[in-house]
Amino acid sequence: MYQINNLVFRYPKNKEDTIKNISFEIKKGEIFGLLGPSGVGKSTTQKILIKLLTGYKGEILYKGKDLKSYGSSYFEEVGVGFEMPVHFSKLTAEENLNFFKKLYSSTVDVDSLLKRVGLYDDRKKRIGQYSKGMKVRLNFIRAMLNNPKALFLDEPTNGLDPKNARIIKELIKEFKEKGGTVLLTTHLMNDVDELCDRVAFMAGGKIAEISSPKDLKLKYGSREVDIEYRDDDRVKRATFGLDKLGANEEFLNIIKNKEIITIHSKENTLDDIFIKVTGVTNDE
Ligand SMILES: Nc1ncnc2c1ncn2[C@@H]1O[C@H](COP(=O)(O)OP(=O)(O)OP(=O)(O)O)[C@@H](O)[C@H]1O
Ligand SMILES: [Mg+2]
Repeated sequence: MYQINNLVFRYPKNKEDTIKNISFEIKKGEIFGLLGPSGVGKSTTQKILIKLLTGYKGEILYKGKDLKSYGSSYFEEVGVGFEMPVHFSKLTAEENLNFFKKLYSSTVDVDSLLKRVGLYDDRKKRIGQYSKGMKVRLNFIRAMLNNPKALFLDEPTNGLDPKNARIIKELIKEFKEKGGTVLLTTHLMNDVDELCDRVAFMAGGKIAEISSPKDLKLKYGSREVDIEYRDDDRVKRATFGLDKLGANEEFLNIIKNKEIITIHSKENTLDDIFIKVTGVTNDE
């Protein structure tokens, strides 16, 4: 769906490039996560891909053709949920959506989306009276308004309670199941685990790693298993390598003869991997 080759970008007033030569592809029908520390250039990359920022170096192909060759028809095909929800605060949710609907030649059934995200009863309320989470949910509907083929979501569950975050995640999954392609930015590694087919970690303006969450965990996890077991009323711990585990007499003896309290392989979490790959903690 997207092929990004040697992308370099500098904000006009800056002295340094923000994006320092990155290349990656986003396949049709996948949810691609763009991760990395604050200020690394995730939102910038998204803005370039939605043609909001121009003047980049390198090449971006959308469906095999140079992104620059697309006119305004491109905006009919992409849906965008910005990092900071911006709405007309003196208008109601419904009026806001009606305004943005007019920008597109075809749109979705807004009422059913309002119902799904729990805003239908508040659709006639002014946005000035909306809570943060309500604005975030409305922002998501705006991204879906034109029934896009590619969806760009910048921290779509930020500021949502777990129930509403779940609803948004279900809608993202449904979008993918219907063949949609998603570029997702988030700091929530649980969302990444749940949603993303592949992720790219950005660090220092470059891409440090691209893989599936599962392969990343295998790559950065140590191949060991930890066991906690009871032995003569004392709790003991042991660690064994996963390779040829079935032939490890000591391990087999514990499994056969002892009361196991806990047993788990030492998989790294995506949070651990984030820190290893980017060299910083996620909330920095
Ligand atoms: N309009 C702008 N003009 C100049 N510099 C900018 C502009 N917007 C962003 N930057 C800079 O570009 C860098 C990348 O910003 P960007 O918003 O892409 O980061 P991000 O990875 O999305 O971070 P976060 O996780 O905090 O959202 C930052 O150093 C930021 O200060
Ligand atoms: Mg950002």
